[in-house]
Amino acid sequence: MDLKNRDFLKEIDFSADEFEYLIDLSIELKAAKRERREEQRMVGRSIALIFEKTSTRTRCAFEVAAFDQGAHTTYLDGASSQVGHKESVADTARVLSRYYDAIEYRGKHQAMVEELAEFSGVPVYNGLTDEWHPTQMLADFMTMMEHSGKRPRDIAFTYVGDARSNMGNSLLVTSALLGSSIRIASPKQLWPGQEVQDIATALAEKSGAHILLTEDMDEALPGSDFVHTDVWVSMGESEEIWKERVELLGSYQVNEVALAKTGNADAKFMHCLPGFHNEQTTVGRAIAHKTGMHEGLEVSHDVFESPASVVFDQAENRLHTIKAIMVATIGD
Ligand code: CP
Ligand code: NVA
Repeated sequence: MDLKNRDFLKEIDFSADEFEYLIDLSIELKAAKRERREEQRMVGRSIALIFEKTSTRTRCAFEVAAFDQGAHTTYLDGASSQVGHKESVADTARVLSRYYDAIEYRGKHQAMVEELAEFSGVPVYNGLTDEWHPTQMLADFMTMMEHSGKRPRDIAFTYVGDARSNMGNSLLVTSALLGSSIRIASPKQLWPGQEVQDIATALAEKSGAHILLTEDMDEALPGSDFVHTDVWVSMGESEEIWKERVELLGSYQVNEVALAKTGNADAKFMHCLPGFHNEQTTVGRAIAHKTGMHEGLEVSHDVFESPASVVFDQAENRLHTIKAIMVATIGD
């Protein structure tokens, strides 16, 4: 499989076979690192990491993956560089691709990462936009494969919560690409937009994926191997939105009752993180005090800390999957 010099701007930049190849490569790279037999295929490469929104996992995964493979990184954000406010994306792309072998970009608009790719002579990776979170999808499907022992086409899962943001969009379209059974349980106004639904429907016709969008958790959850959720208010959204979201999503918390509705004693909980499950963060504490939801927001503390929770395996897999995308596109 030759993926040299390819961009990764959204999930459908790759075919189902290419996407699954990247997951299989991630599994191999994970084993190689564990067994201390990893071979460096990116010696002498340099990667620019542009973050116009904050990050823990994505940034660290890119940096550690690059170091493991013998490459170097430079971190750029709006405050310490010209990106965004003093220099356009097109000019930034043309400068950086004279120095670097690949560029990662995290920011608000998908159009920005698309423009970066258009003007850059090197591969561009989307580290999250409002629309898509493609590197997260490699990790999520890898984690589901590892914990279920199934290929994506045999996995059934439910995504509960705010589904009209990057995570809802990406899980829907990736499932449709790979042939999984995805159920989305969310109030209708928070379902993925019609354009995203249309992409998914067209892909599902080819892959055989099953798609269910419902407002009813009782309809969605039975038979699920995994239950996913995400924060109710995403980066870049106004603080004011919390009140409305809690009203809409308060009854969609992933808790013991929701998990039991899968009817599957082995069902696992997943979350891209960061997540609000206790009052140990300033935002979590403030919202808990305002709403009276002291047992967690999108996920209860009990479920988050339970043996069913695979969120830290999922977080670890960000490293192996981001390494795979870089090795496949710019490695030897
Ligand atoms: N899941 C994820 O993208 O985490 P960060 O925002 O910490 O990168
Ligand atoms: N939907 C979340 C995902 C964070 C990884 C956000 O955009 O803030």
